[in-house]
Amino acid sequence: MSKLKAYLTACQNRVERALDARLPGDNILPQKLHQAMRYTVLNGGKRTRPLLTYATGQALSLSEDVLDGPACAVEFIHVYSLIHDDLPAMDNDDLRRGKPTCHKAYDEATAILAGDALQALAFEILANDPSIQVDAAARLKMISNLTKASGSQGMVGGQAIDLASVGTKLNLPELENMHIHKTGALIRASVNMAALSKPDLDPVVAKNLDHYAKCIGLSFQVKDDILDVESDTATLGKTQGKDVDNDKPTYPALLGMAGAKQKAQELHEQAVASLVGFGSEADLLRELSLYIIERTH
Ligand code: IPE
Ligand code: IPE
Ligand code: MG
Ligand code: MG
Ligand code: MG
Repeated sequence: MSKLKAYLTACQNRVERALDARLPGDNILPQKLHQAMRYTVLNGGKRTRPLLTYATGQALSLSEDVLDGPACAVEFIHVYSLIHDDLPAMDNDDLRRGKPTCHKAYDEATAILAGDALQALAFEILANDPSIQVDAAARLKMISNLTKASGSQGMVGGQAIDLASVGTKLNLPELENMHIHKTGALIRASVNMAALSKPDLDPVVAKNLDHYAKCIGLSFQVKDDILDVESDTATLGKTQGKDVDNDKPTYPALLGMAGAKQKAQELHEQAVASLVGFGSEADLLRELSLYIIERTH
């Protein structure tokens, strides 16, 4: 098994346990809501965002123990965004991670509430989770960073642009702006959650990590757009071809497939270049950048 594969497996197991431990039990009232939250979170996502938090922690010599809370917080926001993204009012998807979407397995109202509750849980974790060892000022910076990444100037803003763009033709800067917000913001926050877990971090190092994260945040959505065209529903675990069906502006639609792949490759190279000040302690971050553009789902 390659070094990256072994790391991904160990880390994914850690994330599953950490998420499970932070979700209210199935039997706690209101049961249906808690079941819907657990159903959607604990169903085999790739956990790319938590992996980035832990890999950044490794580059900064942080213990994984202090990153469980921040890693879970970002994943809970991500899963909430997927639940709402799949609703009929948005992308209207029936399949997610190879299973019926939350509103199909439960109902629309429960799906909306499960998303809302996961968002609140994320911030409760940043405020209270005992894994977080930094002082109150640094904890506040983490909360501030994730709220901005999630809100109308982050992921939610990107989703609003996405919906408003259906059927229109965005130019390249507009498309990039949409992707940087809807997907890039949370990926950037995943890396920054680890950087903020080290309060004495050199600001230049923090800036370089942030630039790495900005590049892979965009390459992640470029690859998502490519897979929507080139992959198949069984491999993706979500319905292939939805972007064309929904008339979404995407990188392959604007640049062609070869142009989209070239863009992903360039972003990977820029991401790796941002890590030039690091030694082998950042190899996982380098490998994750490559994994993001080479993944099959
Ligand atoms: C899908 O995210 C939605 C995007 C932001 C592109 P992922 O590809 O990370 O989905 P999971 O978490 O692995 O299911
Ligand atoms: C989703 O983008 C971005 C967020 C959920 C914030 P997509 O709509 O392309 O994601 P998929 O393809 O449904 O996973
Ligand atoms: Mg969408
Ligand atoms: Mg979607
Ligand atoms: Mg997509």
